[in-house]
Amino acid sequence: MPGRVNGVPAEPPPAPRRAAWQALEEHQRRINGVTLADLFAGEDDRFERFSVTVAELLVDFSKHRATSETFELLLELARAAGVTEARDAMFAGQPINTTEGRAVLHVALRNRSQRPMLVDGADVMPQVREVLEQMRRFSQAVRQGEWRGYSGERVTDVVNIGIGGSHLGPQMVVRALRPYADGPRLHFVSNVDGAAIHDTLAHLNPATTLFLVASKTFTTLETMTNAHTARHWLVKAAGSEAAVARHFAALSTNLEAVNAFGIDQNNVFAFWDWVGGRYSLWSAIGLSIAVAVGMDRFEELLEGAHAVDEHFRLAPLAENVPVLMGLLNVWYGNFFGAETWAVLPYDESLVHLPAYLQQASMESNGKSVTRDGARVTWQTGPVVWGQPGTDGQHAFYQLLHQGTKLVPADFIVPAAPQHPLSEHHDILLANFLAQTEALMLGRSEEQAGSAAKSFPGNRPTTSVVLPRLTPRALGSLIALYEHSIFTQGVLWDVNSFDQMGVELGKELAKKLVPEVKQGRPDPGAHDASTNGLLRAIAAMRQRG
Ligand code: F6P
Repeated sequence: MPGRVNGVPAEPPPAPRRAAWQALEEHQRRINGVTLADLFAGEDDRFERFSVTVAELLVDFSKHRATSETFELLLELARAAGVTEARDAMFAGQPINTTEGRAVLHVALRNRSQRPMLVDGADVMPQVREVLEQMRRFSQAVRQGEWRGYSGERVTDVVNIGIGGSHLGPQMVVRALRPYADGPRLHFVSNVDGAAIHDTLAHLNPATTLFLVASKTFTTLETMTNAHTARHWLVKAAGSEAAVARHFAALSTNLEAVNAFGIDQNNVFAFWDWVGGRYSLWSAIGLSIAVAVGMDRFEELLEGAHAVDEHFRLAPLAENVPVLMGLLNVWYGNFFGAETWAVLPYDESLVHLPAYLQQASMESNGKSVTRDGARVTWQTGPVVWGQPGTDGQHAFYQLLHQGTKLVPADFIVPAAPQHPLSEHHDILLANFLAQTEALMLGRSEEQAGSAAKSFPGNRPTTSVVLPRLTPRALGSLIALYEHSIFTQGVLWDVNSFDQMGVELGKELAKKLVPEVKQGRPDPGAHDASTNGLLRAIAAMRQRG
């Protein structure tokens, strides 16, 4: 079995996954010498057989180092791991986030059917619809200029203050749907680095700026620090605390903390603990999207996601696109030793998609403990990275083509652009096709004339083609990845819905803030390196 886990050779998981896992190991050894070029040469209809359509998306799996037998064996693993049962448990509102005892029901947020969705026996759909209605009223009032600031002027700029799941999703979607933007200008502040809020506020007029404080917990240090700075800026300009009610809204599950911050009850948009932060753009956390493009567009986004939810819920495993995507991740990660997964959108407006998927995948599956609390002996979630083509081609594609690492990559491309410059799109599409072809077929030393100029090829890619980047297509695309990530978590037997790995750093930072302020470490509180750095920084700050 390839790869090491924390320095020791990886071991297959125990039963019930073990037999299917070992069959895949054996199969991998048998087909390792078979290239993608061989596979295409032997199967005229390979594209037809291995490409599928889900919602509006065409997903091409044909450029994978996989045969029908590979898929059969992977599906055997999915069955042994209980993917169907886990999926059904999620849709049934069972507390599959076992460490936190919570249901995982972001699918309810975009449930466009009349089907009830239950958590603890109660249908959550009435409250979901109520908040959607509240979002519609609010976003309309802001967009149509009925909502007025402290001086009686309409809102021209909206600042979403949030981080992680309360930032990456809305920021990614607002950027992706920019061609549809017909509301106020949107800004996003996430980092606690004062430069972020300082530089944003420097260009804004307090009288016409609205802040959306997006935080599931309403305790996150970065968000609260930025929100207090924004509040101070506003109150100073307005000359009265009363202005806060006209300029702040909160998107949160922690209504008590929102109240303590002083945000008007009428400007609070609730969501629930069964919505994970990185799965929350479909909830009130998506208010910035609704303000930017309108609630109708936001609901189209939900509809696109719902179409994929229905596919994931109902399609048999062998035809289930997110399941197949998840299985292929495991195929390369656990059987070929691939450590990363590249996301390469051929669409400038998806510039934030890699960062969004980074959190969605790495915070979900970057785990080394099973759902039963045992240490894993196999690799789990990959390092996710990427950036749009064609920029990436002039930066890191060299390694993808000729480096020593196997990097499976997803290419995402809309067939038609959202702008009128169709010649640009022809060139963009040609580059997408060229790259996936070159990665697959390579160029032999003989053809190239030297080893340095040759390309080994045989590099696997998935192509996802959208008719165009509409709200609906984007919703489907995101849902596809969410369910693929879910499937991977089940295959690796990890809880994809907690994020305990972020806690230690948060805890230590909190303790360190007063020590940084005073410029010296508390005696005995830290290791020698932390003490040395803290003192050196204090000295540099003093020297200016
Ligand atoms: O980074 C940890 C995390 O809890 C993420 O899961 C979450 O998306 C982010 O912080 C923000 O949390 P909140 O919405 O509670 O401010």
